[in-house]
Amino acid sequence: MDANSRFPAISDLRAQARRRIPRFVWDYLDSGTGTEATLNRNRQALDQVRFVPSILHGEIAPDLTTPLLGEEYPLPFGVAPLGMSGLIWPDAERLLAQAATNARLPYTLSTVAAQTPETVGPLTGGKGWFQLYPPRDTEIRKDMLKRARDSGFSTLVLTVDVPVASRRERQLRSGLTQPPRLTPRLLAQVALRPAWALGTARIGMPHMRTLDTYSSDTGARDSTAHVGYLLRTSPDWDYLDWLREHWDGPLIVKGVLDPNDAPRLQAAGVDAIWVSNHSGRQFDAAPASIEALPLIRAQTTLPLIFDSGVTGGLDILRAIALGADFVMLGRPFHYALGALGRDGPAHLIDILQRDLVANLGQLGVAKPADLRGQAVTN
Ligand SMILES: Cc1cc2nc3c(=O)[nH]c(=O)nc-3n(C[C@H](O)[C@H](O)[C@H](O)COP(=O)(O)O)c2cc1C
Repeated sequence: MDANSRFPAISDLRAQARRRIPRFVWDYLDSGTGTEATLNRNRQALDQVRFVPSILHGEIAPDLTTPLLGEEYPLPFGVAPLGMSGLIWPDAERLLAQAATNARLPYTLSTVAAQTPETVGPLTGGKGWFQLYPPRDTEIRKDMLKRARDSGFSTLVLTVDVPVASRRERQLRSGLTQPPRLTPRLLAQVALRPAWALGTARIGMPHMRTLDTYSSDTGARDSTAHVGYLLRTSPDWDYLDWLREHWDGPLIVKGVLDPNDAPRLQAAGVDAIWVSNHSGRQFDAAPASIEALPLIRAQTTLPLIFDSGVTGGLDILRAIALGADFVMLGRPFHYALGALGRDGPAHLIDILQRDLVANLGQLGVAKPADLRGQAVTN
């Protein structure tokens, strides 16, 4: 049976990944914060977005090409940054960067990924996106920007929705520490997941490699306190101005929900706004990202990128209809790796493309952007 019959939907990839990823790692990937109300709200609010299909359109030739920040992407989506991506599936950063680049889609590397910009950047053909958790120290900040630029990242993403660490109680209960320490309980979980265990044994237990350079004290390396000291500055508007001055490529601010912030970001010279509630991982009383999206659209002419809870091509169309120019997915790409290993991401891209084409066909619309303003939400 081919992948399309066995895993026709993201829910199939998710179920299979769950069977192949150790429990404590699964909880890291899958959890939100608090009671996970915001995590669930993302899905509920997406389901509320409807379209009324009209009829007798004749044949349409779907056109999924999407312009964004000077690039012409063949599809309207890409890969969101995940910290410790390589813990979720061995070598995830390289596998995802390669798969995205093969499909000419953007891949975003997190500051706290398990791979460095030097390792991943060359795989992105000079078009990678680098996600910055803001370093406190100015010299480290400058060095990180230089490393990202020199290794082939053209676009910088500043994440602003992690001013403090969130609690993520499910993750705490599962026993995952930073860096991961394999207690007997966690080892027992690993023993039940041979593909993950063998892959991880082959490339070594992952850690936040980009930060290695900034710690001479290997004992402190990667500990939560150390990473917190390096990166948790709760940046302010002056920090953003500094970044705008020091990064000459496209600059995106990720984690925006308040429409009032949009005009100010535009005035600060930001090139795009990434509307996201971090998929419910930071604050459990946030609006669903899809609820915030049209309100932000009304306040800015900047391109809008959207994420949080997208589980199919229809969700991508929903976001575009409500004002997004581009959509990113985080967890689904990791479900794909967990389910199918290195073949997973290409299969996910195929699922999303089929879904987009099928739903556009139902609506008799050739280009996703033509759906702008067509969605019903009440
Ligand atoms: C396990 C995990 C780790 C994440 N790490 C980061 C990160 O390092 N930087 C960041 O900006 N966002 C991070 N995010 C948020 C994602 O970039 C993205 O906003 C969110 O996951 C999108 O929702 P989705 O996973 O439902 O597609 C993380 C999300 C998950 C699930």
